Amino acid sequence: MNVVILAAGMGKRMQSNLPKVLHAIAGKPMLQHVISTARQLHSHHAAKICVIYGHGGEQVPSAVAAADICFAKQEPQLGTGHAVAQAIPHLDDAVPTLILYGDVPLTRASSLQRLVEAAGENKLAILTAHMDNPTGLGRIIREDGKIRRIVEQKDANEAERAVTEINTGIMIAPTIALKTWLGKLSNHNAQAEYYLTDIVASAVADGVEVTSAQPDAIWETMGVNSKVQLAELERLHQTNIAMTLLEQGVTLLDPARLDVRGSLQCGRDVSIDVGCVFEGDVELADGVKIAAHCFIKNAKIGQEAEIKPFCHIENAVVGAKGQIGPYARLRPGAELAEDVHIGNFVEVKNSQIAAHSKANHLAYIGDATVGSRVNIGAGTITCNYDGVNKFRTIIEDDAFIGSDSQLIAPVRVGKGATLGAGTTLSKDAPEGKLTVSRAKQMTIEGWQRPQKLKK
Ligand code: UD1
Ligand code: CA
Repeated sequence: MNVVILAAGMGKRMQSNLPKVLHAIAGKPMLQHVISTARQLHSHHAAKICVIYGHGGEQVPSAVAAADICFAKQEPQLGTGHAVAQAIPHLDDAVPTLILYGDVPLTRASSLQRLVEAAGENKLAILTAHMDNPTGLGRIIREDGKIRRIVEQKDANEAERAVTEINTGIMIAPTIALKTWLGKLSNHNAQAEYYLTDIVASAVADGVEVTSAQPDAIWETMGVNSKVQLAELERLHQTNIAMTLLEQGVTLLDPARLDVRGSLQCGRDVSIDVGCVFEGDVELADGVKIAAHCFIKNAKIGQEAEIKPFCHIENAVVGAKGQIGPYARLRPGAELAEDVHIGNFVEVKNSQIAAHSKANHLAYIGDATVGSRVNIGAGTITCNYDGVNKFRTIIEDDAFIGSDSQLIAPVRVGKGATLGAGTTLSKDAPEGKLTVSRAKQMTIEGWQRPQKLKK
């Protein structure tokens, strides 16, 4: 099937330089949501998608470019019918054409699938809905139950305005006929626009059957024209995600205070406290507990691991039974094995830390390979960067790193070695021994504190 997505509008009420369809819901441009949904539809042929763009110049094509998408520029914007007409050279006559809107991001594939099936190969099918307050929307005019035409609010008479069945805008048409109907549109109407909706009367005149389908929920057809509506749809979408997680058995301390901007896979008995944000692909294994106010992006958290409040985790792996935070930061390439403890104000970057090792307070572990059962004292820093190059630190199994040590990479701490507190390690520390670099302590006899002179 052909899919045409209208995305040329300016979105003046967004008060933004970014084209409207590129504003994000759940961290992803609205237009990208529509494209993803179109790709989920199954018909005899995979969807060939054509995006109609205009306002915002090349920003729209460059944001969503992909092998299965073509673009047609609409300039100036003379109405929805004129917009679809820009796609004509790209449409395959052999399959029907589905029309979607780049600013209507949450339509479910199941609702569209029903519409596609209602249309078959040769009917015009319109996604319609019943609304208590249809003001502003196109009305579906039926005679003897059959759809005859659509009339826009601004062109409607009083009787027509009383109709509560509305045009969501989404429709699907046989392509050869669609091309003919688009060619016949005129702009003799209240808005002097070429209305897509006028193809309905043409279909009726040509004896083409016009049918309809309804979405599962009204919000699926809601568009975004302002930041208020964007925020409303965002919350609605987040609520849907939260409800799905609850149904899967995830404990959410408050489903209204969760944000998922990507995919969140949870095992059994996962619990998530308030204020957490998940981005990209996140996997939480069975029994994981995420405490309040954590940011987690592209990460895997192993079974029964516990992430305490205020952690920032990105492109990292936490092993089973890990204890992270509060206030820990796992940066890209942090790979923690089973039962690793990373405490408050500890930053780990591009480092592998083996099972049962601990860094509980105030440390920086960057470009390091840390063995098992290692204890990294408070204030320890791997000096991995000389201003130009990065070097690795290797800490072998059972090493004990005294507090406030600096490990000047490249350097190795041998198996079972101990570093005394305050060591600045510039050469390898041999295994099993105490290494310490520290000025000898002394006490100055007879020394006196300076006194303030009285004036
Ligand atoms: C349209 C329908 C109306 C329906 C409503 C649902 C027409 C004539 N009317 O009205 O029946 O109830 O949607 O929301 O189709 N666009 C372009 N190029 C244009 C004009 C519009 O790309 O030249 C895009 C807009 O950016 C927008 C969408 O098409 O995303 C709808 O356009 P809009 O002007 O909002 O149509 P409505 O007047 O709301
Ligand atoms: Ca609109």
